Amino acid sequence: MVVDVQAVILAGGKGTRLRPITEDVPKPLVPIANRPLVVHQLAHLAASGITDVTLALGYHAEAFEPVEAEAVRLGIDLRLIVEPQPLGTGGALRWCADQAIFDDRPLLWLNGDVVATPNVRALHEVHTARDSVLTLWLSSARDVQEFGVLELDADGRVQRFLEKPAPEETASHLINAGILMIDPRVLRRIPPDTFFSFEQQLLPMMVREREQVYGMFQGGYWLDTGRPRAYLAANRHVLEGRVDWWPAGRHTDDGMWEGDGVKRDGVTVINPAALGDDVHLESGAKLFGRTVLGDGVVVGSGTALENCVIFDGAEIGRDAEIVNSIVCADARIGDRAIVRDSIVGARARVGGRNELHRTRLWNDTVLPPGVLVVDR
Ligand code: GTP
Repeated sequence: MVVDVQAVILAGGKGTRLRPITEDVPKPLVPIANRPLVVHQLAHLAASGITDVTLALGYHAEAFEPVEAEAVRLGIDLRLIVEPQPLGTGGALRWCADQAIFDDRPLLWLNGDVVATPNVRALHEVHTARDSVLTLWLSSARDVQEFGVLELDADGRVQRFLEKPAPEETASHLINAGILMIDPRVLRRIPPDTFFSFEQQLLPMMVREREQVYGMFQGGYWLDTGRPRAYLAANRHVLEGRVDWWPAGRHTDDGMWEGDGVKRDGVTVINPAALGDDVHLESGAKLFGRTVLGDGVVVGSGTALENCVIFDGAEIGRDAEIVNSIVCADARIGDRAIVRDSIVGARARVGGRNELHRTRLWNDTVLPPGVLVVDR
C-alpha cells in the first residue's frame, strides 16, 4: 500500500571516519553484503510504498549514476541533486527545496549511512495524528555520548534535545537515528546557500521553542555505518539475517549467497558468507564465516578468511589470514600475509609475509614482502 510521503536521502558527506574506503567510494555506496548501502535503503523505501525519492549529493556525486538503474528496477522515481559545495545536512535539504523538487507532503529524510528498516507507515501516522512539524524515528543506545539524545514526555513530544551529552546530563537512552519525517515548510527557515547543520542548529531551537516536535521509538535494528567496526558489523548482521536487507546473489542449498561463475570446489565454508560474480576460491581455502567477497575476488589455497569484507577485484595469495578486516577494490595481498583488524586501501600491494594489526593502509600503498608491519 502506498504511503503518501516523499523521501530524501542525504548522501553528500565525505565519510572521513571510513577512510580510506571513502576516498574512492562515497559512504552511501559502500557495499553491504555486495549491494550498495543506498540500494538497500531504496529497496526498503520501495517496499514501504514510497516511489518519490531524491538523493542529495556532493562528494563523488558522479559515482551514483548506476543507482538510477536500480531505482527503475524498484519502481522508484529517483532524482539526483548535486550541491555546488558541501552545505551540511540542513543546507543540503534547503538546496533541494530551492530546486522546487519537494511538494507539501511530509518528507521522510534518511541519512545515507544508516542500516534500518523503519515502519514508515507508523511514523507517518504519528506525524499526522500529532500535527507534528518534525517526527524523529529514534533508536536507543547504552552509551549516548556520541549521539543526539532526546527526552520525551508521555505523549512522545520532545522535551529536551542534547547533542553528545555527558552521561550525567541525561537519563535518556533515546537517540536521533538519522531518520526523520519533516514538514517541508520547515526547510524555509534554513538559510539558503549556507553551510548549516540541521541537528546542531535548527533542531535544538525548535525543541527549545516548544514546537510540535515528536519522537517515536519502534525498536528494531539500527546501525550507523560511519566507522569501520560498525561497517563490518553491518555486513555481518545482514548475512546473519538480523535485518531485512538482502545480500546480492542467490541463496544456495548450502546456505551461501552466491553470484554467477563462482568456483569453490574443495573449499571449507562456515556460513554465512556472500560471494559475488566470478569469485575464485582455490581448493583448500577456508571461509570461517561472516565473510563477503565482491565480484572477481581470488583467494589462494590455504588462506583463511573470517569476518571480513573483500571488495571487487581484490586478490589474496596462499596461506594468508584475513580477520576482522576490510580489503578495498583491486588490492593484492601476498602469500602468508596476516591482516587483522585492519583496512587495506584500494589497489594497495601487501607483499607476502607482512603482518598488519590495527592498521589503515592508504590506497595505492606498496608494502614490499616481509617488511612486517606490526602495530599492536
Ligand atoms: P564523517 O566525515 O565520517 O563524519 O561522515 P559524513 O561526511 O558522512 O558525515 P555524517 O556521518 O555526519 O553524515 C550523515 C549523513 O549526511 C551521511 O549520509 C552523509 O552523506 C550526509 N551528509 C553529510 N554532510 C552532507 C552535506 O554537506 N551534503 C549532503 N548532501 N549530505 C551530507
